[in-house]
Amino acid sequence: MQPKPPADRSRPGPNDDVEDLMRVAHAAAQLAYAPYSKVRVGAALLGEDGQVYTGCNVENASYGLTLCAERSAVVRAIASGERRFRAIAIATDQPQAFMPCGACRQVLLEFAPKLWVHVQGSQSALESVSLAELLPRAFSPRDLP
Ligand code: THU
Repeated sequence: MQPKPPADRSRPGPNDDVEDLMRVAHAAAQLAYAPYSKVRVGAALLGEDGQVYTGCNVENASYGLTLCAERSAVVRAIASGERRFRAIAIATDQPQAFMPCGACRQVLLEFAPKLWVHVQGSQSALESVSLAELLPRAFSPRDLP
């Protein structure tokens, strides 16, 4: 077996294999149910234990009921018993990456305020940001009495 190459310090986040996580997210996007927007989005949520939970966008004829890939991954993880996360990879088949929508940012923050968010489109380079950067001064469970 080849020794592991040194971790890429130019990118934020723990020394997880971000490229691998992103590959899983791209595969998850293929399972999207998106007959209305025709936009496929996949998410791969990395649990604290190293397990990966995938999700995809699930649209509905009543458009407002559409579930984003990110929240679909969170629901799968919580229902599987994991509540702590290290990173999420979000992939779309559109040329440019999608940043998570506001609703998904808030749902991710509930469980992982220190989450790293990695995004990529079909033609774009992988980009990494922190959830704190995406949702500054957020309302969080800590604000509740
Ligand atoms: N979508 C996601 O799944 N995640 C995002 O971060 C942004 C948008 C989905 C919802 C809908 O099915 C389609 O992309 C177009 O908005």
